[in-house]
Amino acid sequence: MKGPINMTSSFWHPFADMSKVSKKPFIIERSDDVYVWDTEGNQYLDATAGLWYMNVGHGRKEIVEAATKQAEQLPVYSTFGDFSNRPAETLAEMLSERSPSPGSKIFFVGGGGEAVETATKLARRYFSAIGKPEKTYLIHRHHSYHGTNGIGTSLAGIPANAAGFGPMVRETEEVPTHDAEALEASIVRLGADNVAAFIVEPVIGAGGVHPPQPGYLEAVAQICARHDILLIVDAVICGFGRLGGWFSSERFGIKPDLITFAKGVTSGYLPLGGVVVSPKVASPFWDQPGTIFRHGPTYAGHPTCCAAGIANITILEREGLIERGAQLEKDLLEALKVGENYSVVSEVRGGVGLLGAVELSASFLSNYPQGIMMLQDEMRSRGVVTRALATSLAFSPPLIIENHHLEQLSQALSDSLHALEKLT
Ligand SMILES: Cc1ncc(COP(=O)(O)O)c(C=O)c1O
Repeated sequence: MKGPINMTSSFWHPFADMSKVSKKPFIIERSDDVYVWDTEGNQYLDATAGLWYMNVGHGRKEIVEAATKQAEQLPVYSTFGDFSNRPAETLAEMLSERSPSPGSKIFFVGGGGEAVETATKLARRYFSAIGKPEKTYLIHRHHSYHGTNGIGTSLAGIPANAAGFGPMVRETEEVPTHDAEALEASIVRLGADNVAAFIVEPVIGAGGVHPPQPGYLEAVAQICARHDILLIVDAVICGFGRLGGWFSSERFGIKPDLITFAKGVTSGYLPLGGVVVSPKVASPFWDQPGTIFRHGPTYAGHPTCCAAGIANITILEREGLIERGAQLEKDLLEALKVGENYSVVSEVRGGVGLLGAVELSASFLSNYPQGIMMLQDEMRSRGVVTRALATSLAFSPPLIIENHHLEQLSQALSDSLHALEKLT
């Protein structure tokens, strides 16, 4: 679309200070491969794969054509009750086959937040269906991000994301980020008979990119099993190759009861999310007539979005991209480690999957509360798009990224940090 951009924008951006953003939105006009371009024609390396989703990279005509073909034939139709469509059936089969537990069922929704709502409601509903309705508590980690719907907000491990909304789901509990024993202590204190599920991102994303400590995920899986608590792996960021496997849990040898996914399932070309439901959790609903999960959004199993998902999975598999998240993880970490040369950086994180973060020091941020935005702007002025989190800058490039792109990223990071350091 051409023409002047309306500078008194009516578009309210998520997570934005609109008093500033409305005057100067950063408008992305086109994209291809690992690059995006703004309205002035400036090219940027997309070091975040959009919002952690563009796993196969930009400009994939194959996905666009698959979605177009489907939209011409049947753009959308209900899947409530007995209605179905071929793309939803096919994609569910493909995902089930690739899931860690054979025979898993797939519940489709519109995105990651809806997937979290679905998985957590299903955890509670499962226990009520098997005669344990008092199992309602949901446990999450500090730093966790599980979307912005009602339950996801109640599970926010980033305090700012829950602040100001008043109480939502009260039966939640936060545990420290890396402490499996603390999880067990919480379960014992709450009473295992009152706890439905523990939800965990294998690598915490929006909370600052925190990889799990060795053995953590294996330990929490055992604790959940021991106390009859469902393990929900939130693979919304970590799935579809980001950690080197389809659903991220494979890497740790764990079989979650429920897995939430979104983003990489279509590489973001169209919105889609869902839950992989293990046979154990599906059983009361699939095997007992009359036990119904009264839940589901209008666009569950949207055929056009599912067609995009099928094409995306075909590309991920054909080009060996699923493995690349793990193959490139050390290279990305190495590229970010240039940050350790600067006193404004307190920590460089990453090394588990193709995602990482550079944390700015508390002293720099106390002098420059907008320090992360400043670093993001410095990177942008050097042709690299990154994601500003609370105290760190995040990186999660497309899985098709090459080493020369990582060199460009590393150089831009070094120069940007140098510019910040000169202020101190
Ligand atoms: C781990 C995790 N869960 C859930 C969500 C929410 O997904 P959505 O923004 O598609 O609702 C996100 C979004 O970034 C996420 O990172």
